[in-house]
Amino acid sequence: MTFTLREATPADDPVLDEIARKGDASADADYLELLRSQGARLLVAEVRGEVIGFGGVVDASGVAMLSDLFITPAARGRGVGGALLRELLTAFERRMTFSSKHPGALPAYRRVGMEPRGRLLYIEGAAAAVDAPPLVSGPWGHDRSSMVAMLERQGARVHADVVLMPEAAGIWIARLQSIDPRATFRAAIAACPVGATVRCCVPEGSPVAADAQRLGFAIVDHDIFCATDGVRLADDLHCLDPGLA
Ligand SMILES: CC(C)(COP(=O)(O)OP(=O)(O)OC[C@H]1O[C@@H](n2cnc3c(N)ncnc32)[C@H](O)[C@@H]1OP(=O)(O)O)[C@@H](O)C(=O)NCCC(=O)NCCS
Repeated sequence: MTFTLREATPADDPVLDEIARKGDASADADYLELLRSQGARLLVAEVRGEVIGFGGVVDASGVAMLSDLFITPAARGRGVGGALLRELLTAFERRMTFSSKHPGALPAYRRVGMEPRGRLLYIEGAAAAVDAPPLVSGPWGHDRSSMVAMLERQGARVHADVVLMPEAAGIWIARLQSIDPRATFRAAIAACPVGATVRCCVPEGSPVAADAQRLGFAIVDHDIFCATDGVRLADDLHCLDPGLA
């Protein structure tokens, strides 16, 4: 199949979301705005003017964070994803991403040097009344401040160690970074209305994963953290956005 790659423009946004949804994900306007605010490079693949896939990468302090890779179902398995990956990652030796469980994803990532390093758990549950001190108020006390500022512009409540994003269905812990993750997680839960649905994405080895289950939260899905040798998530990062790490 003959296809071409080009930089995505905002006019492509509705199609990107449509294609991501066919891959059981989404790329809605807020998400794409967040990516662009982080200087993301977004590429589309097209055949005779029709977009058949896209991918995105963010430079996370010299590490390529592959944010998205989606090919429309009819065009999968024909080299499009591989071509997008090579073009997006070519400038970076250090690379990472969160892989879906699609059978094509891991092989495609391994092909460009990103090996599976552990699971990222999608955790969900109802906020209960927990005994915890109040969250330390903002400003945000860690790195990625421009990402956190954009989340705040999109409606998040920013504390020193936690970013809470209200959603239609409840609250998403968009980021939790702390040297005392268990206490900070409990404080975040205590800051949510009792009964509200809370969801977060947590590296499997984090104490937050075990504590959330102790509080009755369930693991509803997972992705796989893939990275080149020596690339790892910060030790104090316990809840994160899998699109941006
Ligand atoms: C995963 C995905 C992006 C791969 O794109 P693609 O265009 O189908 O992949 P390509 O044809 O370029 O193949 C890339 C590599 O993966 C391998 N691969 C692709 N599909 C595969 C499958 N179903 N099973 C095993 N290997 C597969 C190819 O053999 C190729 O490796 P090679 O270069 O060693 O031959 C695409 O299948 C997709 O959009 N899936 C649904 C959405 C998704 O899960 N995206 C990943 C989000 S993390």
